[in-house]
Amino acid sequence: MRISFCYADTKSEPWLAGLRAALPQAEVEVWSPGAAPADYGVVWAPPQQFLDEQPHIRALFNIGAGVDALLQLQVPAQTLIVRLDDAGMSAQMAEFVCHAVIRHFRELDHYEAGMNQGQWAFRKPRLRSDCPVGIMGLGVLGQRVAQAVAQFDFPVVGWSRSPKAIEGVRCFAGEAQLPAFLAASKVLVCLLPLTDETRGILRRETLAQLQPGGYLINVARGAHLVDEDLIALLDSGHLAGAALDVFRQEPLPAQHTFWKHPKITLTPHTSARTLRDESIAQMVGKIMALERGEPIAGVVSRDKGY
Ligand code: NAP
Ligand code: GLV
Repeated sequence: MRISFCYADTKSEPWLAGLRAALPQAEVEVWSPGAAPADYGVVWAPPQQFLDEQPHIRALFNIGAGVDALLQLQVPAQTLIVRLDDAGMSAQMAEFVCHAVIRHFRELDHYEAGMNQGQWAFRKPRLRSDCPVGIMGLGVLGQRVAQAVAQFDFPVVGWSRSPKAIEGVRCFAGEAQLPAFLAASKVLVCLLPLTDETRGILRRETLAQLQPGGYLINVARGAHLVDEDLIALLDSGHLAGAALDVFRQEPLPAQHTFWKHPKITLTPHTSARTLRDESIAQMVGKIMALERGEPIAGVVSRDKGY
């Protein structure tokens, strides 16, 4: 069995060592143009040439949960595209989003700024019931995040394509219920995949439907958000702030307005990192299942785009 590794922006050696240790019978190599055809690919945003030279590759294991970059390419029709299925990401995402919600709700940035100026001053406690948190996307990450936020007794609502029943979460589904979901949310967390249907979903028309004083947390993809619309709603006061982890262009260009906006908190696409050992273990388990002819979880639907 031959496995081709293709991820230009990372150190390949630890990945190769991990894959070789778990699958000693496999030949595992970094892809280079003209390499022998592989049975499996372990990839992040490979060049089109990789796919053009691998017309019979059986499965591509994406080194991440979101497959939007991969689906931009011409992937051979019979090749399975397999996403990372949690692999240690949901706990990271839950802690990141809970931290962002709590930092906003408890006004910790105000306290930090005050303390830095030697001010010992209290702010009136906010009511948790006035801070419903809406989670867009109730998949592997969204469900874990929704349940984690609900543990702090915030009212939690969620929105997905198909109907869901999640304890402690009021669930909405489909385009028809999007307005009701937004109207029930004050903090909005985006955990949708980037697809033709969700590109630009965080725009003036939708964000304006959040409760006044709303707060946006985008941890999905930068292209979900229309940047100028967020700035306009922050500047008008309809939105109180935003925590952004993902951007249309990454790294965020030095001249972008987001860098200096007083109501925006930035992180460099780090809310849920790919954990190498967990990811290798998951991919190897699935390769062995495929070799035995068994079905695997996490296969992407090309029709749905996630
Ligand atoms: P997932 O398991 O595929 O879940 C996606 C959820 O979105 C599902 O609940 C799905 O509905 C819903 N959805 C998709 N299209 C929709 C639409 N048109 N209308 C309403 N709901 C829709 O994905 P995941 O593992 O939770 O990850 C979500 C995204 O997070 C990834 O695609 C990636 O872009 C992003 N991500 C970011 C980071 C980071 O570090 N910032 C890390 C990992 C992932 P159904 O349940 O009905 O199918
Ligand atoms: C990271 O953004 C991922 O999709 O895993």
